[in-house]
Amino acid sequence: MAKLNENYLNLKESYLFSEIAHRVEKYSTANPDKKVIRLGIGDVTLPIGSTMIHALHEGVDAMASSDSFKGYGPERGYDFVRNAIVEYYGRNGVSVEADEIFVSDGAKSDTGNITDLFDKDNIVMVPDPVYPVYVDTNTMDGRNIIYIDANVENNFLPMPDKNVHADIIYLCSPNNPTGATYSKEQLKEWVDYALLNDAIILFDSAYEAFITDESLPRSIFAIEGAKKCAIEFCSLSKTAGFTGTRCGYTVVPKELTITASNGTVMSLNAMWNRRQSTKFNGVSYIVQKGAAAAFSKEGMAQSRENIKFYQENAKIIADTLAKKNIRFFGGINSPYIWFECPNGMDSWAFFDYLLENAQVVGTPGAGFGKNGQKFFRLTSFGNRENTIEAMERIEKLLSK
Ligand SMILES: Cc1ncc(COP(=O)(O)O)c(C=O)c1O
Repeated sequence: MAKLNENYLNLKESYLFSEIAHRVEKYSTANPDKKVIRLGIGDVTLPIGSTMIHALHEGVDAMASSDSFKGYGPERGYDFVRNAIVEYYGRNGVSVEADEIFVSDGAKSDTGNITDLFDKDNIVMVPDPVYPVYVDTNTMDGRNIIYIDANVENNFLPMPDKNVHADIIYLCSPNNPTGATYSKEQLKEWVDYALLNDAIILFDSAYEAFITDESLPRSIFAIEGAKKCAIEFCSLSKTAGFTGTRCGYTVVPKELTITASNGTVMSLNAMWNRRQSTKFNGVSYIVQKGAAAAFSKEGMAQSRENIKFYQENAKIIADTLAKKNIRFFGGINSPYIWFECPNGMDSWAFFDYLLENAQVVGTPGAGFGKNGQKFFRLTSFGNRENTIEAMERIEKLLSK
C-alpha cells in the first residue's frame, strides 16, 4: 500500500485567499449594484515594458527556423541572462559570479525547493507574520519551525536573539506582508548570528526593486560575511511585471559549504546545481530573452516607470492613513502597506467592515500569522482610479 507523506496532515488549510474570494463573492451576489475595489492581491496590473516584449517576440521568432531554434537550455540558465544579472548586481555595488546564479521560474519555487538540500532535523526560524510558503514547505518536510515576533515594538524587523539557536533562517526584505526593510547594520547582525550558529540565511529579495532609500541594502551580499552563510532569492515578477511570464533567479555563493556528518565538505552551489538539473529543466529560451532585456538600460528604465506608478499609489494610500491617524508600516520601499486595524479591531472583522461599508477588499493580517491578527495589508498594485476611489471611500468611512 502506498504510504502518505503524513506531514501534509499538519498543513493548515490554505484558507486566506479562498476565504477572501468566498466572502467577496457572497457580498457581490447579495449586492450586485455595488462596485467592489480589490486592493488585496499581490499581483501587478501594468503591462510589461516594450523592450522586454520585443525581446520575447525575438525569442519566439528564433524558434521558427532551424538555425536559431533552441531546445533544452543550459541548466543554470543562458549565459546572456546570468551575465546580465552579474552586471545588475555590479551596478548596485555587489559582486557575484555568473556560476553562482541559477535562473528559475520564480522565487516561490526556489524558496520552496531549496528545502531539498537540508535535513529534516534542522531548526527553522521564520518571522511572524510571514510569507506562508516558507512555513508550508518546511511543514511538508516535517521540519521544526520556531517563530520570531515581528511587531510594532521592533518595527516589524525582528533581530536575532543570541540565546535562541536556529539552523536555517528565513528573512524577507522588503517584507511581504509588512513592507518593513532591514538596514545594512541590522542585516550585519543577522549575518554575524548565522556565522556564529553555523546557520544558513535564506534571503528573499523579491521586492528589492522597490527600495528607494539608497542606504538600504537590496541584496544580503552587500553585507560582509554573507557569502559564507546566505542564499538569495530574486524575482522578475514585481520588478518587471513577470508574475505571469515567470522568471526568477537564485544566488548560491561558491564559498557556501556545509560539512556532512561523515566529514565531507559539501558545496551548496554544487548541490543546488545537482538538485535543479535533476528535477528542473530550465526556463524557456523565450522567457530568458525577455528576462535579459529586463536588465538592459532601456528595460530597467521602463520597469522603473511601472514601479514609480505603484509607489505613487502607495503614497496615496499612506497619505490617507496618515490623515486618519492610523499607524502604518511599509509603502515607501515596498508595494505593501501594513496598518493597524482601527479601534483595535480584529483583521477579519475589519475585512468585513470595509467590504460591507466601503466595498474595498484588502488582506487580513491574521492570514500571515498571529502577529497579524490586528493588522491589515493593502497593495499598491491597483490602477490609479481605483486606488484613489478606494482611499476616498475609506477616508469617508473612518470619518464617521
Ligand atoms: C516574499 C515573496 N517571495 C516570493 C514570491 C514569489 O515570487 P515569484 O512570482 O517569483 O514566484 C512572492 C510573491 O508574492 C513574495 O511575496
